Amino acid sequence: MIQQNHKRGLWATRMGFILAASGSAVGLGNVWKFPYITGQNGGGAFVLVYLICIALVGLPIMLAEFTIGRKTSLNPVGAFYELRPGTPWVGIGFMGVLAGFLILSFYGVVGGWTLAYMVNALTHSLDQFTNPAEAGKFFGSFIGNTGEVIFYHAAFMGLTIAIVIKGVHGGIEKACEILMPTLVLMLIILMIRALTLDGAMEGLKFYLYPDFSKLSGEAILLAMGQAFFSLSLGMGAMITYGSYLPPQENLTSATLYVVLFDTLIALLMGLVIFPAVFAMGLEPTGGPGLVFSVLPAVFTGMPLGWAASILFFILLAIAALTSAISLLEVVVAYFIDQKGWERKKAVLTMGLVIFAIGIPSGLSFGLLAGFKPLGMNFFDHIDNIATNYLLPIGGMMTAVFVGWIWGTEEAHKEIERHETTFRWAAYWEFVVRYIAPVAVAIVFITKIIPSS
Ligand code: PHE
Repeated sequence: MIQQNHKRGLWATRMGFILAASGSAVGLGNVWKFPYITGQNGGGAFVLVYLICIALVGLPIMLAEFTIGRKTSLNPVGAFYELRPGTPWVGIGFMGVLAGFLILSFYGVVGGWTLAYMVNALTHSLDQFTNPAEAGKFFGSFIGNTGEVIFYHAAFMGLTIAIVIKGVHGGIEKACEILMPTLVLMLIILMIRALTLDGAMEGLKFYLYPDFSKLSGEAILLAMGQAFFSLSLGMGAMITYGSYLPPQENLTSATLYVVLFDTLIALLMGLVIFPAVFAMGLEPTGGPGLVFSVLPAVFTGMPLGWAASILFFILLAIAALTSAISLLEVVVAYFIDQKGWERKKAVLTMGLVIFAIGIPSGLSFGLLAGFKPLGMNFFDHIDNIATNYLLPIGGMMTAVFVGWIWGTEEAHKEIERHETTFRWAAYWEFVVRYIAPVAVAIVFITKIIPSS
């Protein structure tokens, strides 16, 4: 394998790295996916399980990924290879690259929806609904429109490609520095609006009061998959981002910041959506269209609703973009480091291939809506395979690798290479070795044993 460490970019500042990693973590997973799967899986109890997964599985695995990345300065395939050459562990890296491929293929489609909604907001199409159902209908007819969906999907992938071609620090880092803070501010404004609607309390109850009778085994698997997806874990995105770190950075506090920030945004988004859903008499189980049909109904009739709708969808598109970049970067870093490709060639080729693979996902709500092998459309299948299987398995194997194969001692040394003391080392070592792998395994076993 070709291992080229020279000529790789580096993050310019510590803040830049934290924001870029947060940019990867915060995206459609928080704003679009978290509300709709929480809505479909009963609300409060699901949120609680999700938070437990974040603390016990997500947090330790993120630190493990950053550590592997900084130690090796390589993409996931190269990284596992370098730490244990000639062993099957390199397979985790390959699985990660594959997951990046698959996730970006449908992520780009939803990214396209956000661009389309940005344009719709500008042209006053999103603040004119006389009732909430109209907003839902508008969304339904948009995602069924082949030409528009493909056009915006292509536009979104084009933007992703353009940024990744520029490399890590010029493109990725700069963009994240302004956008992330603005997104938080916007969510707080929307939350205040949603919470002051009549009937908002019902939504709060659904969202915050855990009713465990609504929690299925399936929901636990989904909560775990969502934790991995939202934190960008289990496929080497954080290994790749860690690989651009100069050695003096503090990995432990970066991990805490990214996890806290990502979780905060998801939770805030729930405080926007559920009060609004219930206040407008909609169902929380609306699925992938939930955010796209509920928010325009919130914007309509809200003071400055037009401006809010524009700002919101611009920010959402950007949040999606900063995540899409990290997905493409994993795939591209593999071809650059391992195959010796030029960045430009890697980005263009892989960007186009991923776009093409995404087309059937884009058509899953229109032309291909009737194509549902095993009861799910193409879009949901790809999402399900990547999010609920590849990511948790990749994450579990990463934890096993760091905990038992490479060893927590070596990892600990890498973490403390330049920083003072790793204060929660004992907790981390314990969770990485025992809790994280066992938790993921248990969730899979319970899932596989059919519940009667
Ligand atoms: N974390 C991103 C989001 O929440 C999605 C993502 C998953 C990005 C995996 C990179 C790797 O939108």
